[in-house]
Amino acid sequence: MPTDPQTRDAPVQNLWRHFADMGGETPQVFVEGRGSYLIDDAGNRYLDALSNLYCVNLGYSHGAEMGRAAFAQYCQLGYHSSWGSTHPRAIELADRLAALAPAGLNHVFFVPSGGESVEAAWKLARAFALANGEDRWKVISRQSAYHGTTLGALSLNGLDHLREQFTPMLVPSIRISNTRRLLDPGADSVEDAVQALLDELQEQILINDPSTIAALIVEPVQNHGGMLTAPPSYFAGLRRLCDTYGLLLIADETITAFGRCGEWFASARFGLDPDIIVTAKGLSSAHAVMGAVIASDRVFTPFLDPGASFLHGNTFGGHPVMAAVALKNLEIMERIDLLGQVAARQTALEERLRSLLDLEVVHDVRGAGYLWAVELASAPSGAPNGRHIWGPFELERKLRELGVLTRVAFDDDIAIINVAPPLVAEQTEFDIIVDALRSVLSDVSAEVLQRRAHLSSRA
Ligand SMILES: Cc1ncc(COP(=O)(O)O)c(C=O)c1O
Repeated sequence: MPTDPQTRDAPVQNLWRHFADMGGETPQVFVEGRGSYLIDDAGNRYLDALSNLYCVNLGYSHGAEMGRAAFAQYCQLGYHSSWGSTHPRAIELADRLAALAPAGLNHVFFVPSGGESVEAAWKLARAFALANGEDRWKVISRQSAYHGTTLGALSLNGLDHLREQFTPMLVPSIRISNTRRLLDPGADSVEDAVQALLDELQEQILINDPSTIAALIVEPVQNHGGMLTAPPSYFAGLRRLCDTYGLLLIADETITAFGRCGEWFASARFGLDPDIIVTAKGLSSAHAVMGAVIASDRVFTPFLDPGASFLHGNTFGGHPVMAAVALKNLEIMERIDLLGQVAARQTALEERLRSLLDLEVVHDVRGAGYLWAVELASAPSGAPNGRHIWGPFELERKLRELGVLTRVAFDDDIAIINVAPPLVAEQTEFDIIVDALRSVLSDVSAEVLQRRAHLSSRA
């Protein structure tokens, strides 16, 4: 496949990239994708171990089929809005999503992205409260959770460094702990630790006046912080407290849905019973700009009253071409039984990743389905940890040199390597990822041991 003449050798002067150091290195330019692999404009081939931004669930090989679906839709009706009237693809996609979503979640409101689905869910929770004669507007979210960057979604974001430049936030939000403490509950049992988290939530609800709080938002598996999961008792406790104090429970499934955790929606796998699911990315395997808010009958019912309407909408939500592509994505996923493939292979991925635990610097490997975190150990006290020995970009660069693309995130000082390949990735790809990780992390482990020896010789 020839490289794209538009990008080859062209200086990148006008493009302002997202979250990018614009004064730094010239960016790598990717021109082609196949299966789980990306190819850059110099012809180098990389295994995409992050599904780009956790979104290319189907990988890169189905573009032609999606393109034909888009083409057919362009020829029939290139655009129509979702304002009042509608078009067949939006109806069909809403029906598909209602069928795939957990029971009782039937009402689908389309938006163009994950952040906008979070924001729409907040507006929906507020409008729902008002429709019930209550004035609720605050939202509770969890420490270090990422929920998007538009100002409404950013307000719920648990990542302070993303928020602080842009204060004041639009939506008053209340922060509670995520489930990291369940990883190491110390003298407590896991169930005691779950109860402590639920007690904290209850306390925050009471301190902040329950009658003013519209919703609690959580991911079934929290990506930022390192694929933090929780037992069903935790999610059942969230449901109970939301019911007690009249909050809506929002599941942010922007990443976790559409097979990423082995189910169409991860809420079903982890015992999370939300009133609203927000999603995007895997809905179209990122081949379309498409997100969705999926609401329960209870949330939808007030809007059936004569004259009532949800005062929200935009030009592109439910775009017919995007909907046609999302429908094609779901059709292909079903045709190739992608969820069955994930079910059959997820243990192999887990086992390969867990084999890294013998390395000095690997502290934990956790996750579900095709969504994993390799957490690096803190270094011996007084010595820098893996972060300082190998900065995040350095780790990413070393992995890239070995042909594997992924991202290294930090939860406070803890370095976490994220592994979330396209759901079509197989044993060959698992081996490539783990071999590259072993190679890079062996060097880090050796350096940690060396520093530890140095420290003890000085003591
Ligand atoms: C859990 C979660 N929510 C929301 C978003 C925001 O999605 P988008 O980038 O489509 O606005 C993301 C993006 O990664 C996410 O991971």
